[in-house]
Amino acid sequence: MTEPFHYRGPNLYCEELPAAELAARFGTPLYVYSTAALTGQLKALHEAFAELEPLVCYSVKANSNLGILKLMADQGSGFDIVSVGELHRVRAAGGRLDQTVFAGVGKTDDEIRAALEAGVLMFNVESEAELEAIDAVARALGRLAPIALRVNPDVDPKTHRYITTGKKQSKFGMDIERAERVARTVLAMPGLEMIGLHMHIGSQITSVEPYGDAVAKGVDLIARLRAMGHPIAWFNIGGGFGIAYRGGEARPISDFARVIVPAVRESGCRLAMEPGRVIVGNAGILLSRVIFTKTSGDKAFLIQDAAMNDLIRPALYESFHRIWPVRVPDGLPAPPADFEAAIPGTTPQDVVGPVCETGDFLAKDRPLPPLKRGDLLAIFSAGAYGMVMASNYNTRPRPAEVLVAGRNARLVRRRETYEDLLGPERVALETTV
Ligand code: LLP
Repeated sequence: MTEPFHYRGPNLYCEELPAAELAARFGTPLYVYSTAALTGQLKALHEAFAELEPLVCYSVKANSNLGILKLMADQGSGFDIVSVGELHRVRAAGGRLDQTVFAGVGKTDDEIRAALEAGVLMFNVESEAELEAIDAVARALGRLAPIALRVNPDVDPKTHRYITTGKKQSKFGMDIERAERVARTVLAMPGLEMIGLHMHIGSQITSVEPYGDAVAKGVDLIARLRAMGHPIAWFNIGGGFGIAYRGGEARPISDFARVIVPAVRESGCRLAMEPGRVIVGNAGILLSRVIFTKTSGDKAFLIQDAAMNDLIRPALYESFHRIWPVRVPDGLPAPPADFEAAIPGTTPQDVVGPVCETGDFLAKDRPLPPLKRGDLLAIFSAGAYGMVMASNYNTRPRPAEVLVAGRNARLVRRRETYEDLLGPERVALETTV
C-alpha cells in the first residue's frame, strides 16, 4: 500500500489528493486525516490479536471527531470514554455503548447514572470511594453495575513522565498489592458485579517488556479474584502502544501481541484494549501557512499560522513532530528519514506560531529549507492529542478538520467563527449587576 501521506515528485499528498489543494480549499491551519490510515491501523490491531478476538475500544480522548468515531463504529470498534461528554459523542456517532468502557478517576454521581442508563459494558473503577459511589447509584436505580478494577501493576513504561500512569505513586487506579483486599469488599456490595481487570500503564510506549511484566501480574491477580468468587471475564490491558514520531522508534503491533496474547490466553479471559494514539496518531497531519520569516540575533524564525493553541504537544511535552514543506524546493529530498543528520540545503529554524508566549513553538532549531511568506508546511503525526487539546487561547478560532478517502475530502469539523467564540459570553454584555 502507498503510505497515506506521501510525496509525488515535490508535492505532498494525502491519499489521492494534493495537500496544497486541501489547504487552498479549506484554509489553514487545517487538520487532515486519512481514512485508509485509520481503518488500516484498526485492522492491524485486530489481526495482531486475532487469536483472542479482541474487543478494541478506541480511546475517544485521542481524537474525538464525530467523523472519526463514526468511521470506527462502522468498522466494528468499541470505545473507551472518560466523561459523559465522550459518551454523548459515541452515541451521536452511532457507536455501541454496550461495547464502551468508562474510565476516569473522578466520575460524578450524575456521570455514573448516565453511563449505567446508557448500558456501558463496564466501569473501570479507580478507587475504593468510587466503588461505593457506583454501588449506591446502581442500587438506587435497581441495577447491577458491571465493573473492572483498575490496578497499577507498578511497572515503568519508560515514557514521558507526564504520560506515565501505571506506577504505584500514580493518581490512577489502585495499588496492585491492595487489589485483593479491595476486591473482598466488593463481594459485600450488592450493586456491583466485578467482571474485569483493567490496567493502563502509560502512553507512547515503545518497548514491549513493560506490557509483559504488567500482564503477568494481571494473570496472577485474576486467578486470585476468581478464587474469591468474582466472575472475571475480561482482561483489559488499556492503551499506550507507541508510534513513530521521528521514524523507526515504534515497535510493530505484533511485537506487543507476542507478549500479551499468551498471558491473556492463560487467564482464560476475553481481551479488551483501549488504543488511541496507535490508531489515529499517524493518520493525521496539521497543515499551516508561513506568515513571515524573521531573524533575531543568530536565530531564524519561521512564523506560521499554526500555534500552541492548535497543537500543544511540543510546548507541553517537548515532543517532536516531523515538519517539512508541502512543496519541496528543487534539489531537496522528500522528508529526511533522520532529522538529526546533516541535511544539505537546510538551515536550523524555529517553527513558531503567532501566540504571545515564548512556549509557542512547534519545533526548535529544525533543519528546513529557506521558505517564504505563503509557503505551506506539514506537521506530521498530529492525529492524536492534537485537535482534542486545542484551545481558543488568544481568541484564535480552532482549525477545521478534513477526512480524506481516496479522491474525496469531507469537512468533518468546520473552522470556528468569531461568533462561536464570543457567543457564550454575550450574556456578560446583556446583564447588569
Ligand atoms: N486508556 C486509558 C485509561 C488512558 O488514560 C489512555 C490515555 C488511553 C487508554 C489511550 O492511550 P494511547 O493508546 O493513546 O496511548 N496527551 C498525551 C497523551 C495522554 C494519554 C492519556 N491517556 C500526549 O499528547 O502524548
